[in-house]
Amino acid sequence: MTSPVTTISEIGKHEGQSVTIRGWLYNLRESGKLLFPIFRDGSGTIQGVVPKNAVAPEVFEDVKALTQESSVIVEGKVRADKRAPGGYELDVSNLQVLQRVPDDQPFPISLKEHGVDFLMDHRHLWIRTPRQAAILRVRAEIIKACRDFFDDRGFTLTDPPILTPAACEGTSTLFPVDYFDEQAYLTQSGQLYIEATAMALGKVYSFGPTFRAEKSKTRRHLTEFWMVEPEVAYATLDDLMDLAEGLISFLVQRCLEKRRADLQTIGRDAAKLEKITAPFPRITYDEAVKMLQEGHAKGALETKFEWGGDLGSPDETYLSAQFEKPVMIHRYPAQVKAFYMEPDPQRPDLALCVDILAPEGCGEIVGGSQRMASYDLLLKRIREHGLPEESFKWYLDLRKYGGVPHGGFGMGVERAVAWVCGLEHVRETIPFARTLHRLYP
Ligand code: 4AD
Ligand code: MG
Repeated sequence: MTSPVTTISEIGKHEGQSVTIRGWLYNLRESGKLLFPIFRDGSGTIQGVVPKNAVAPEVFEDVKALTQESSVIVEGKVRADKRAPGGYELDVSNLQVLQRVPDDQPFPISLKEHGVDFLMDHRHLWIRTPRQAAILRVRAEIIKACRDFFDDRGFTLTDPPILTPAACEGTSTLFPVDYFDEQAYLTQSGQLYIEATAMALGKVYSFGPTFRAEKSKTRRHLTEFWMVEPEVAYATLDDLMDLAEGLISFLVQRCLEKRRADLQTIGRDAAKLEKITAPFPRITYDEAVKMLQEGHAKGALETKFEWGGDLGSPDETYLSAQFEKPVMIHRYPAQVKAFYMEPDPQRPDLALCVDILAPEGCGEIVGGSQRMASYDLLLKRIREHGLPEESFKWYLDLRKYGGVPHGGFGMGVERAVAWVCGLEHVRETIPFARTLHRLYP
């Protein structure tokens, strides 16, 4: 093959020329003396055209014998075709088969429907299908958008440790690790450490994997997920809400701009995403409780929500369905929230915190707060929560040496991807999901 190598996504630059593409057979259609192989190469798919009388007999026979997912290097001339999904077709002139998938052991994922368990067991192969590949491209775009958003606004990326001596988000969901002779845990959140880097650098963020031994089998929970967390010195709760709505609208608009074709492949209604522009509605926990109680009175919710509890999945689904944009719920009762949250000076039983629920019943995508400023109160909370004081000495130091009001939030990447792509379940938003019952592949 002597023609220049290109990718399917770039093929339009070579209209009328002969090119080489390297990929796999996605599907093959036959119509008399014409073969229509569809090739994919990771960047896209393109249909080839192979007329019997226009190519060498062995090329025709090789194409005719191709099986799904056989690896191939193909040479052909690029021809514009208005009817083609990508706008181009390839008039194949030559083909090299690297590995032909044998007939008696075909690619397990055929174009027909499969059950989710089967697909998850074959996740290493499932990700080759167009819809799954499109979801992974949207995920990458969202990650890039988050980085660009913070990098362009004076934030410094600081990476917190993954092996930690203590809990950040409560002790019930820790994954223990044997750290030589010490007990360690996989991090639940980088927050405590980026509070320290924020005191050093002002505006920081972290972006990494986080772990929770969630025993829940919901469509929103993974045991390993990625979180982007900004942390800002001198930030108030209002500043954090402004920052979060800025981030969310930025990443949605970025996906609309750069990943429209992928959203279409996924079957996402882009009109719903077009509406995601700042400002977002902001309601207090008290107001949310009122809405939930009205929902119960109307028969939309089974149980009556009582003030003081944490929102459950059905509550979040109900609330988020009342808005076209993400809704910010602020000032929850301190008793249902983490130990590090600053109390509201107006009503100390409330925490200066915010959860953001994505629309269309997607549930919480962001959780954040102002952090406790007082050394004495923080120490008291650490004791009340039964946390190991020794492990938090350094964290208390941050309140001893130039403590300032500060805060931040965490956005779960998989929840954001699920919402942007319109997926029921977070398991499709990450290449290899880890859940209560899944550690394979
Ligand atoms: O609300 P969470 O627990 O907040 C924190 O971890 C804070 N320390 C963040 C901070 O203030 N820097 O988690 C933040 C977000 C949630 O809103 C959700 O999007 C996601 O992380 N998340 C999960 N995603 C998938 N699977 C799980 N098990 C998740 N738990 C939380
Ligand atoms: Mg939360």
